Amino acid sequence: MPPRPLELIEGLLVDPDSGSPLELAGEESGQLRLVADGGRSFPVVDGIPRFVAESATAQAQTGMSFGYKWGRTDTYLSPAMQRMGRTWLLERYGFPTIESMRGYLEGHDAVLDLGCGGGYTSSLWMDGQWSGRLWLGLDLSTAIDVARNRLGHLSGTAFVQGDILRLPFRSGAFDVVIAEGVLHHTPSTRQALESAARVLAPGGELMFYVYRRKGPIREFADDYVRDRLSRLPPDEAWEALRPLTRLGQALAETGASVTIAEDVPLLEVPAGTYDVQRLFYWHVAKAFWNPEMSFEENHHINFDWYHPAYAHRQSEDEVRAWCVAVGLRITHFNAQESGFTVRAVLDKASNGSR
Ligand SMILES: C[S@@+](CC[C@H](N)C(=O)[O-])C[C@H]1O[C@@H](n2cnc3c(N)ncnc32)[C@H](O)[C@@H]1O
Repeated sequence: MPPRPLELIEGLLVDPDSGSPLELAGEESGQLRLVADGGRSFPVVDGIPRFVAESATAQAQTGMSFGYKWGRTDTYLSPAMQRMGRTWLLERYGFPTIESMRGYLEGHDAVLDLGCGGGYTSSLWMDGQWSGRLWLGLDLSTAIDVARNRLGHLSGTAFVQGDILRLPFRSGAFDVVIAEGVLHHTPSTRQALESAARVLAPGGELMFYVYRRKGPIREFADDYVRDRLSRLPPDEAWEALRPLTRLGQALAETGASVTIAEDVPLLEVPAGTYDVQRLFYWHVAKAFWNPEMSFEENHHINFDWYHPAYAHRQSEDEVRAWCVAVGLRITHFNAQESGFTVRAVLDKASNGSR
């Protein structure tokens, strides 16, 4: 019989505050708990260890926003969206095929998907298969239950509800840590990167994607809209944002383009010929529209951008410097207008921030 998820991860789990090891208790009563030295304990609910009760406050809005977003499976699972998601994933991380990406990850002993959400990105490269020893998904929000429903049938998968900034894992526990579109949603991208590096084994690899800082008007619009929308409950924000998605659609449907003959340094707009919707999107306000996707799928992407209260954008220099500071040697750096995709190996001799 393959090991059960809790057996697979029990030896990796620690009290996130004291670092003391945890032991499973309560099997006879059916009320499973992980107990630390001194008696402090954490519940295991529906087979998932839960570590976030006390820390939920600093990022309560983040948890609520992503719990809602990943619960809306109706808005991101069409074949067109999955095809585009796979293409973008491979292009950024530098794998030729989904099989090669999956094979690469299966070849490692312990893979942590940090901020796995509903398991969407992992479902793209797993494509219904996982023959590695351990893939562990951790998320702050109730999206972890969505991830378990999506990937929990694959043997070797396990799930934890926890906080990246208070990870319940012993140092050096993982050979690969993936953080796809996650670190910038915490109160500090840099601290989240440090935390991810702490649980990486020497010589292990961190694979992550973070947002890139844009030009001044777009940055202003991002903060302005996010400040208003993030105060609303997710369902109200979803509705309030609809006109902005319709604006993206209307701009795209003009089919118009414009040529900007010279750079506009004050607005950080380079010279070039732009589709009008893309010019607006990159330099004025994010109003995503892709005609291959349904209205709700386009809308989901806009909601994902504007509703979470924390969504830091960073410069290339910052990302590179943060890696160096924790002893991560960058082996692959993909820079796109939207963000940076990085693969970096933890220096064997480094003790970084550990
Ligand atoms: C844009 S989603 C990406 C999900 C997943 N990586 C994917 O690509 O499908 C960002 C995820 O980060 C999670 N997150 C944000 N802050 C977190 C934290 N402090 N600890 C754990 N997860 C966090 C959110 O709950 C959310 O599910």
